[in-house]
Amino acid sequence: MKRQWSTNLSFILAAAGSAIGIGNIWKFPKAAYEGGGGAYLLVYVLIAFIMGTAILIAEFALGRGMGRTMIGAFLGQWKWVGYLGVFTAFLVLCYYYQAGGWILRYFVGYIADGARMLNEPQRVYFELMGSGGFPLLGGLIYPAAYIFLNVAVVKKGLIQGAERLSRIAMPLLFALLIALLIRALTMEGACAGVDFLMKIDFSRLGFSGLLNALGQAFFSLSIGMSVMVTYGAFLNKSEPLIKNAAWVCALDTGSALIAAFIVIPAVFASGNLPSGGGSFAFVEIAEVFNAMRFGSLFGLMFYALLFLAAFVSSVSILEGILCCLEERWKVKRGLAGLIVSLAALAIGVFYTADYDSGGMGAKLEVVTDRYLMPAVTFLTCAYLVFVYRMKRLSAELNCNRGFFAVWRFTITVIAPIVILLILVCSFVF
Ligand code: PHE
Repeated sequence: MKRQWSTNLSFILAAAGSAIGIGNIWKFPKAAYEGGGGAYLLVYVLIAFIMGTAILIAEFALGRGMGRTMIGAFLGQWKWVGYLGVFTAFLVLCYYYQAGGWILRYFVGYIADGARMLNEPQRVYFELMGSGGFPLLGGLIYPAAYIFLNVAVVKKGLIQGAERLSRIAMPLLFALLIALLIRALTMEGACAGVDFLMKIDFSRLGFSGLLNALGQAFFSLSIGMSVMVTYGAFLNKSEPLIKNAAWVCALDTGSALIAAFIVIPAVFASGNLPSGGGSFAFVEIAEVFNAMRFGSLFGLMFYALLFLAAFVSSVSILEGILCCLEERWKVKRGLAGLIVSLAALAIGVFYTADYDSGGMGAKLEVVTDRYLMPAVTFLTCAYLVFVYRMKRLSAELNCNRGFFAVWRFTITVIAPIVILLILVCSFVF
């Protein structure tokens, strides 16, 4: 008997767990700040719900319809698209492990010595990142520890590993989000941040803000690589695909919005507006916790949140790769997980080494977000339209004709045009 998610809720939690990650808690608030607040949020929500949900439905439908993982779902001449998706997942994993390692360092730091984390944020950050030299801690040791935790989970298999993890971690994650939201909104001076997020001013968004929102939506929903197709392959035929995709999108977008309403008001209240650098989530934010009573407790809660979000996501990426390898070559998941992860560590080190200087290694993220994920999504849409055929999709979606027509239009016209726009602009700018 083929493996399947134990319940529909497990599937939603695992897919939402994959989607809710560093992209939501860390990248999104910063992007919203840089995109000028309300206008960015509005555009993002529209993109996520219209295009994001449609593509999510497509990926789930492909995986479940074929009953195969990303590699197996693409047949004949299109086979390489599956491999490209898995390769993209691998590249994302390379830098995700690094960021996961840094988060682990902060999480452990707040448990062991919260006062130091608050008082010497710059020092802690430089120690971690190697300040110009080789980043032994941030590039190797903490990511290795983080990887160990990931492999320990996937080793147990999809159901005992990723599913169980999401069932425990996701409710905790939502509880932390709500607690931190209440804390941030009750800070003195938080209103300025709320006003900023509510004010819709398109002149501050600009074209680059729009492009960013598109890329962010893809990344945040985990589309354009192997995970969602593969997760869909293990979903029972009788479960509602469209509803599930809508739930995943709502949870993902909702948590990104909550994160923005935590970080931005808190940052405004403490008077430390983010600078352009990537260190924001680590250095400047310490000032925010410093400005709070029980700051080290809230710091701990924030990094616990970030850790849970990152962990469930990286487990899903590794899982997405391993399910494919297992199906295709019957590899042993523990050993394969370790080998894939060590390879990701070897490449990922360059990401950390170049992170502050913005050098070659740090470009890994641009390659995946701006080129590979959109390209794989484009090819997936093309495959569905030209090879898979609408009749099969309509049976898989099992919805009324009106909805199907709208969905089909989104997948065959809107999404491909928008994706081409991202790709062309990424080359031009
Ligand atoms: N969606 C995750 C995030 O927001 C990242 C991710 C991308 C996870 C692709 C799985 C696959 O951080």
